[in-house]
Amino acid sequence: MSFQDVKPLLKVEELSHYYGQQLGCRDINFELYPGEVLAIVGESGSGKSTLLNCLSTQINPTMGKAYYRFADGRVENLYEMSEADQRTLLRTDWGFVHQHPRDGLRMGVSAGANVGERLMALGHRHYDNLRSTAIDWLSRVEIDADRVDDAPRTFSGGMQQRLQIARNLVTNPRLVFMDEPTGGLDVSVQARLLDLIRKLVSDLGLSIIIVTHDLAVARLLSHRIMVMKGGEVIEQGLTDQVLDDPHQAYTQLLVSSILQVGT
Ligand SMILES: Nc1ncnc2c1ncn2[C@@H]1O[C@H](COP(=O)(O)OP(=O)(O)OP(=O)(O)O)[C@@H](O)[C@H]1O
Ligand SMILES: [Mg+2]
Repeated sequence: MSFQDVKPLLKVEELSHYYGQQLGCRDINFELYPGEVLAIVGESGSGKSTLLNCLSTQINPTMGKAYYRFADGRVENLYEMSEADQRTLLRTDWGFVHQHPRDGLRMGVSAGANVGERLMALGHRHYDNLRSTAIDWLSRVEIDADRVDDAPRTFSGGMQQRLQIARNLVTNPRLVFMDEPTGGLDVSVQARLLDLIRKLVSDLGLSIIIVTHDLAVARLLSHRIMVMKGGEVIEQGLTDQVLDDPHQAYTQLLVSSILQVGT
C-alpha cells in the first residue's frame, strides 16, 4: 500500500458547539491519519476541551460532522450513530485519558479490576486470563505486579495516570483522546509519563488527539498541532513548522511563552 492510499481515521467538517449563547468552538475542520498524534493547544477557555468532548461524542455538537473510519473500512458520521454505539466505541476502539485520574479510574476498586473492566465489557470472562492480562499491562506502564490488588487511591499521581493509560489501552484502541494528561504532575513525573506515551504510540501505532497547555508536551509528542483561540482554530500544521515558524501573532506569543505564564 502506498502512502497515497492511506485514508483518514477521522475527518471533521464544520464542527461547532455552543453552550446556549456561549461559544464553545466553531468551524473546526481537520483530518487525522492512522498513527498520527495531533496536539490541540491554546489558552484557557479557547475551546480545547469542548472540541475534544465533541470528537469523543461526550457532547453533541451544535453543527457539523465527524466521519470515523472503523477497522473494517466502514465510515460513519459519529453524530448519526446511536448512543449505545457511541458508548461501545468509547469502551473498545477508543480511549479517553482524563486530566484527573478520578474521572477516568474507579478509585475504590483494585488496579487489576480497573484494567480488567474494559475487557469484561468486551465479553472476556475468564478470571485467570483477565488477571494475567491486567498484570501484563501494569508492567507495560511500569507498575509492579504486586500492586495489582491495591486500589488506585493508594497510588501516587503519576502511577494513577499510568494506570489510567493501561486501562484505556488494554482493549487495543485505535484512537485515544487525552485532555491534559500530564497537567497536575511534577516535572520529573511528567517527563516519565511522556516517555511512556511516546513509546506506546510507536509500539502500538496509536492515533492520539491530545489537549495540552504545554507547548513542550506538544513538541515532544505530536506530529501536527492545532492552535485555538476564542473557539476557533487559528493556525495548524506540522508541529515543528508551527512552533519554529509561527505565522499568527497569537501563536508567536504562545511560542515566546508570554501567554504561558500563569496558565
Ligand atoms: N458547560 C459549559 N457551559 C457554558 N459554557 C461553557 C461550558 N464549558 C465550557 N464553556 C465555555 O466554552 C468556552 C470554551 O471552554 P473550554 O472548556 O472548551 O476551554 P479549554 O480550552 O478547554 O480551557 P481550559 O484550558 O481552561 O481547560 C469557554 O468560554 C468556556 O467558558
Ligand atoms: Mg479544558
